[in-house]
Order: sequence, then C-alpha cells, then structure tokens
Amino acid sequence: MKRIVQLVTTVGVVAALALFAPVFANEQPEPDLAKDAAQGTGLPMAVPHAMKPGEDGEACNACHRTGIKKAPPTSHPERLNCTQCHVQGAIKKPAKGKSKK
Ligand code: HEC
Ligand code: HEC
Repeated sequence: MKRIVQLVTTVGVVAALALFAPVFANEQPEPDLAKDAAQGTGLPMAVPHAMKPGEDGEACNACHRTGIKKAPPTSHPERLNCTQCHVQGAIKKPAKGKSKK
C-alpha cells in the first residue's frame, strides 16, 4: 500500500513538471540594456504648464485623454502615475483650463 502511494505521488510530480515545462521554455531572451539605451530617443517630455499640488492620473486625463482644451491627447491614459515620468518643465503659461491658442 505504501509503495502504491509512493508510485502515485512520483507519477503525479513528474506529470506536473511536464505540464509546466512549456512555461519555462517560453522565457524571454536577456534584454540588451546597452543597445536599448543607445536606441533611446530621449526622456518623456516635460510638462509645459503648471501642475496643481498632487495633480496626477485622472486629473491629467481630464484634458489629455481625448485632448480637450487643446491638450495633446495621450497615447497612454492607463499609465496613471503621469508625474513619475513627466516632470515639471519650464512653464510657458499656467494651465487655466481655457487656453486660447
Ligand atoms: C486644463 C487642461 C490640462 C490639464 C488638467 C493638464 N494638462 Fe497637460 N497640457 C494641456 C495643454 C493645453 C497642453 C499643450 C501645451 C501648452 O500648455 O500650451 C499640455 C501639454 C502637456 C504635455 C506636453 C505634451 C507634448 O506633446 O509636448 C505634457 C507631458 C502634459 N501636458 C502633461 C500633463 C500632466 C502630467 C498633467 C497632470 C499633472 C496635465 N498635463 C494636466 C492641458 C492640460
Ligand atoms: C512610464 C512613463 C510614462 C507615464 C507614467 C506617462 N507617460 Fe506620457 N509619455 C511618456 C513618453 C516616453 C512619451 C513620449 C512618446 C512615447 O514614447 O509614447 C509620452 C508622451 C506623452 C504625451 C504626448 C502625446 C503622446 O502620447 O505621444 C502626452 C500628452 C502624455 N505623455 C501625457 C501623459 C499623461 C496625462 C499621463 C498620465 C495619465 C502620462 N503621460 C503618463 C512616458 C510616460
């Protein structure tokens, strides 16, 4: 009886390993960071208008999701930590929500 339990367990473990083998086989190649850096075209553009303290995410999307109020529409409204990448740049004029350009 003990041997049967042992056999069933062994077969089960082997089957499980075989089942997950494709997951490990599908690994991504090592990224070539030096090549990526050389190809990089620059930093995310700085924000050319004033930001209210704590303004981020959906508050930015209010204008940038669809591009209302002459804001350039963003290609990535789902990346909600906007200010993680877009830092304050030189302020051309404060964003008052009614920029007439
Ligand atoms: C009231 C509308 C409004 C809100 C809210 C707003 N923006 Fe803008 N944003 C604009 C407008 C209009 C421009 C065009 C440049 C300018 O200010 O003249 C712009 C330009 C930008 C640009 C430059 C894009 C480019 O193609 O050069 C970035 C980056 C940006 N905003 C990020 C943000 C972030 C991050 C927030 C939230 C903290 C935010 N914006 C909130 C209206 C807005
Ligand atoms: C992970 C970094 C990152 C985050 C987070 C991020 N952006 Fe960007 N954004 C970029 C980069 C890089 C570009 C330059 C164009 C590109 O490569 O897509 C860009 C471009 C833009 C542009 C110019 C139009 C375009 O899409 O090319 C706008 C407007 C903009 N971002 C607004 C925003 C707003 C609003 C948020 C938050 C909801 C945000 N970004 C979050 C990195 C980021």
